[in-house]
Amino acid sequence: MTGTGAPPFAVISGAQVQQALRGRERQITELVEDTYRLHGAGDSVNPPSYFLRFPDRPSARIIALPASIGGKLRVDGLKWISSFPENVAAGIPRASAVLILNDHDTGYPFACLESSIISATRTAASAALAADWLTRGRPRPARVGFFGTGLIARYIHTFLAGNGWSFDEIGVHDLSAGSAAGFRGYLESSGTAGRITVYEDAEQLIRSSDLVVFATIAGEPHVTDPSWFEHNPVVLHVSLRDLAPEILLASTNLVDDVEHCLKASTSPHLAEQLTGSQDFLAGTLDDVMAGRVTVPAGRPVVFSPFGLGVLDLAVGKYVYDEVTRSGELHVIDDFFHELRRYAPGPA
Ligand SMILES: NC(=O)c1ccc[n+]([C@@H]2O[C@H](COP(=O)([O-])OP(=O)(O)OC[C@H]3O[C@@H](n4cnc5c(N)ncnc54)[C@H](O)[C@@H]3O)[C@@H](O)[C@H]2O)c1
Repeated sequence: MTGTGAPPFAVISGAQVQQALRGRERQITELVEDTYRLHGAGDSVNPPSYFLRFPDRPSARIIALPASIGGKLRVDGLKWISSFPENVAAGIPRASAVLILNDHDTGYPFACLESSIISATRTAASAALAADWLTRGRPRPARVGFFGTGLIARYIHTFLAGNGWSFDEIGVHDLSAGSAAGFRGYLESSGTAGRITVYEDAEQLIRSSDLVVFATIAGEPHVTDPSWFEHNPVVLHVSLRDLAPEILLASTNLVDDVEHCLKASTSPHLAEQLTGSQDFLAGTLDDVMAGRVTVPAGRPVVFSPFGLGVLDLAVGKYVYDEVTRSGELHVIDDFFHELRRYAPGPA
């Protein structure tokens, strides 16, 4: 984007995002893998997320995730994502988001994308990637358990299936019977061959699963007994605050980024506060992919991904390129207007 014309600015709707990503689970999982490797190699800038909280609405938050990514993508940007858990009872999703992409050379924003789908997609791709890498040294799990069954759980199941996973048993547990039933309905309509069981008892779900996916909205640990994990499952701890530190201390722990994860009262943060050290962390998923860390089979494994802005950028740029290629990019005419230094109006 150089030259003297007004830089273009496009808006990409959720419908366009979904169209660009539908059925691309394997490509997006590879893209997320490449992005983790790029981040691990230092070719990114990913400062800590900023949490905006409100005294009058304590359950709500809006998080800013600024990031910059190098490599072939070369794009900067910001994800701005709200979490308002009470939305669900009102019939709309908890999370809503936009992603702004900024041009590498001029800094100009060049696109605003609906980003709740991008966020759920990169989260699910990261979970599917971790499920693959963290189970390589053990029998491939045939029993999966979903602990918390909202939108993120649905995306993770879709990404596991899209990456070739199939399960004999699918366990489901949620505090809300309606959510568990809704997720069961989704599973049945997805054509899964596995037997679906709704567990009212959390312990039974965990003891019946070799791959456990946490996607609740718990603010503090509610699973506290390490003996529930004595069968050494692989745990995708996507919601970050479900597990008591004692469970992490009895497990092999992987994160996406150490500095990010040891913040905001996540379970790894609590484990660090309890022990006064980071020794309970084995490393990052990138360490595992690069062979720097080996995952032992004889212990539970817990992956706690904080969620990196670089992943949103990578998936957002993928969507932008796809929509551009399809010829459906909606550019907003005259979005940038004050372009001549000493004369009002457009160039
Ligand atoms: N780590 C990441 O990168 C990342 C990215 C996106 C979302 N998330 C997290 O994923 C989680 C799920 O998001 P969502 O959009 O699916 O939310 P959602 O509101 O759609 O679903 C959450 C479900 O969890 C259930 N639940 C809450 N507490 C529970 C408990 N203690 N036990 C069992 N079930 C419980 C709720 O009833 C609900 O059905 C959120 O915590 C969100 O912050 C993490």
